[in-house]
Order: sequence, then structure tokens, then C-alpha cells
Amino acid sequence: MLLTHPERSLTINQLINYQTLIRHRASGYPLPYLTGCIEFYGLEFEVTPEVLIPRPETETLVDLALARRPTTVMDVGAGSGCIAVSLAVHLPEVAICAIDISPAALAVAQRNVERNAVSAQVRLMVGDVLNPRPGPVDLIVSNPPYIPTSARASLPASVRNHEPRLALDGGADGLRIIQRLLAQAPAVLKPGGGLLIEIGADQGEAASRLAHTFFPRATVHIHPDLAGRDRVLEILT
Ligand SMILES: C[S@@+](CC[C@H](N)C(=O)[O-])C[C@H]1O[C@@H](n2cnc3c(N)ncnc32)[C@H](O)[C@@H]1O
Repeated sequence: MLLTHPERSLTINQLINYQTLIRHRASGYPLPYLTGCIEFYGLEFEVTPEVLIPRPETETLVDLALARRPTTVMDVGAGSGCIAVSLAVHLPEVAICAIDISPAALAVAQRNVERNAVSAQVRLMVGDVLNPRPGPVDLIVSNPPYIPTSARASLPASVRNHEPRLALDGGADGLRIIQRLLAQAPAVLKPGGGLLIEIGADQGEAASRLAHTFFPRATVHIHPDLAGRDRVLEILT
């Protein structure tokens, strides 16, 4: 046990609040939903049960997007806004349109845009994949739902029971939203534009095949995350 400030005694209300938090946590409720915030790409983000808790592996996608130095970006499946906000903070010239099908998630993203002072660069929109479709853009980024429906049951209980199903369930093979995104992307990309899409560790081959189907002349790479697992599909048109 680590005790800090032993000289301070808690009020009865503080003690009750603390014990409630501990009970929630012990029952498997995710810590970031209890504290209401998490760090991603060195920045602070509000998180609530309406949004996926940003994951460290998504920082690989942000690294790759920053390296391309785009000036116009679409982020599909904005969630907490962690990708769009991180890009805006590190690329002061970039203009980003971030779409999510969940208005509740976008309300959290809006607060994160304001918290990180990037309102002038990031526009949030309710939409379904790339509809509505402002564009054209240099780069499409996305961390879509990609867990196959049947695999949801084997996710850790803290994820399965508390994070939004809409953020996780990628349909029968996990690739439903990715396939729709690839089908719609050509109408939104500038000539020479690219896509960076987060995928599951076992989806590299299937995602590459899909990419070649929708972009037969493009260069396709699968990038690993820091743990060496397939994580980001990159398409350069
Ligand atoms: C895996 S979460 C990613 C959230 C955030 N970008 C991140 O990296 O932490 C996927 C997000 O896609 C959104 N989403 C699901 N289906 C969608 C669709 N058809 N069109 C747009 N967004 C969708 C969900 O609401 C969720 O916020």
C-alpha cells in the first residue's frame, strides 16, 4: 500500500465516495471511466462510457499520419476525438473533419477539442462512415470498430460489459465498416491521397486483400504496433 498525505484526514463524504469508487473498480469497471480522463499521445482526454477508451496502439496510427504531414484530413469514427485532436495539436496548419455515428460520442469529442484548444482546426459531424462527405482530403484516418461479432464474448469483461458496443462490433468478420470505408473513400480522396486504418492483429492479410480490391493501383502496407502485431493498414493512391 502507498500512503500519501497521511497528515490529511478525509471527510465522511470523501470516504464514502472513495469506497464507492473502489467497489466499482473491484467489480471490473474501467479506471478511466471512474477518473473521467486518460492520456493519449501526451495529451489529456475526457472519457465517458459513451466513448471507447483510447488505446496506446492507436498512437502508431497517429505517428504514421503525422509523418505524412497532411493539410486536410477526415477521421472516421472519431469517438473521444483522440486521433483528430492529436493531429491538430501537432500539425497547426491541418484542417480535420471528424465523423461519428454516435452524437453522444461527439459531445465528448467536442469537449476534448475545446480542452486541447483546437476548435479552429477540428470540425465534428454526425455521419455514417463517409456520409456526409465534405472533401476532398489528403488523408483519411480511422480506428473503426473491427472486432468480429462472435469474438465479442471472449473480450475481457471490463471491455465487453462497459465500452460501447458501437465502438467494438465490426460485423461477422470484423471488416464490415472497413469495407464500407474503402468503397466510399475514392470519392473523398484527393489524387495521391492516402488512408490509414487501424485493424485487428489477425486482420492484416484480409485487410490487404480488401485494399487491393478497392484500390488496385495503390501501394498497400501493413504496419505493426509497438508489440510487433499487425495494426495499421496504409493505402497510398
Ligand atoms: C474503435 S472506436 C474509435 C474511437 C477513437 N477514434 C479512438 O481511436 O479511440 C470506433 C468509433 O466508430 C464509431 N462508429 C461506429 N460505426 C460507425 C459508422 N457507421 N460511421 C461512423 N462512425 C461509426 C463508434 O461510435 C466509435 O466511436
